[in-house]
Amino acid sequence: MSDVDNSIKETMVILAPLKKSDEIKSILLEKKLYRQSLKPRRFSDKLAMPIIDDYGNIFDELCNLFPEFSSEFEISRENLEKNKLSISPAKLMKEKIKIWLQDNNFQTNELLKKIPSKWELLGNLALLPSSSFMDDEWQDVLSKCKSRQIDNLWKSVCQSLKVEKLGRQQPISKDIIRSSQVEMLYGDEGWVELIDHGVHFGFDATKVMYSSGNVTERHRIGNIEMTGEVVVDAFAGIGYYTLPMLVRSKARHVHACEINPNSINALIWGAEKNCVEDRITIHEGDNKLSLPKLEGIADRCHLGLLPSSEGAWFDALKCLKKEGGWIHIHMNVPEENINSWTEETVSKLEEMAKLINKNWRFTVSNLEKVKWYAPYIRHVVLDIEIR
Ligand SMILES: C[S@@+](CC[C@H](N)C(=O)[O-])C[C@H]1O[C@@H](n2cnc3c(N)ncnc32)[C@H](O)[C@@H]1O
Repeated sequence: MSDVDNSIKETMVILAPLKKSDEIKSILLEKKLYRQSLKPRRFSDKLAMPIIDDYGNIFDELCNLFPEFSSEFEISRENLEKNKLSISPAKLMKEKIKIWLQDNNFQTNELLKKIPSKWELLGNLALLPSSSFMDDEWQDVLSKCKSRQIDNLWKSVCQSLKVEKLGRQQPISKDIIRSSQVEMLYGDEGWVELIDHGVHFGFDATKVMYSSGNVTERHRIGNIEMTGEVVVDAFAGIGYYTLPMLVRSKARHVHACEINPNSINALIWGAEKNCVEDRITIHEGDNKLSLPKLEGIADRCHLGLLPSSEGAWFDALKCLKKEGGWIHIHMNVPEENINSWTEETVSKLEEMAKLINKNWRFTVSNLEKVKWYAPYIRHVVLDIEIR
């Protein structure tokens, strides 16, 4: 008889302070690094959380996100207990769809090879990629079904992903307001609510975009101390950065400019839900008109528009107080041009400052590589101190 204990498995773990373990687990889950098949284990005041072997630079990211705990994080190997009856959502989805196909007298083999293997979770909504169930075989099956049967299929997918609503992603529109184009498959409407690092967000996923890929940047901005500061967020959206700056960075006041009425509804909801409605002024409409009304009042300007926020740089500089402040510039930049783009940006800002008779010095404090936007193209954020 073998004496190997099959209920235990050796795995990479990240050891993190117990009091931060919930937040860290949600980050690991979002980044698909957490091994849900194993149970975390407590070691004194730390929790060993199971992660996949290919954990990338998560250690550095966590140290940046939680600098006060950076000396406590550790990566090591440990033996952890397996979760009983652990079945991944993907396997469960396959099982449930197989049953649905059999119940409705369809052949299963080829169809099961073409079910989605990834999705995005936004609160109680799962968003499937745009190609999901759109190939010829699935379209043929769905065309033979009554709407009640199709509803049952989507319901099974929801059950396996433990959500109540299901949508299919369409490409984010290239229009100025970055409209979302989600098609709802199950559930009446696309309103979703979620909490990220203690900040509440709510929005209609069929109408506005939510970029899960920017999660680390939202956390980074929320970690910057802004006590007492007045901030201008020129492209506020649903409050991706406005709300963390109010809730976590403790900005005194944020002037949030936004042109999309659907995003503004979500921003109003978020401000109330986070109890910061007294510290936000929403400027509805084109920031070409609202920024000039905010001249000379800001300690910091946030310019979160992709692919480029350059059109707002001059107006944003004019918003800063006469003693200067900070500016955070989002931009999509080819990887090989990041250094030259940084230098060019500083030169352009220096020229703009001269036009408004400001003798400011521009110091690059940080260049954050947020994510790959496309092959070889990085979404970066340049933090510049202006004095
Ligand atoms: C990309 S979204 C914000 C995304 C967020 N900063 C992030 O990185 O996740 C940009 C927002 O700017 C808004 N916007 C674009 N042009 C604008 C303008 N000229 N004035 C005001 N808002 C604008 C859009 O409606 C959209 O909500």
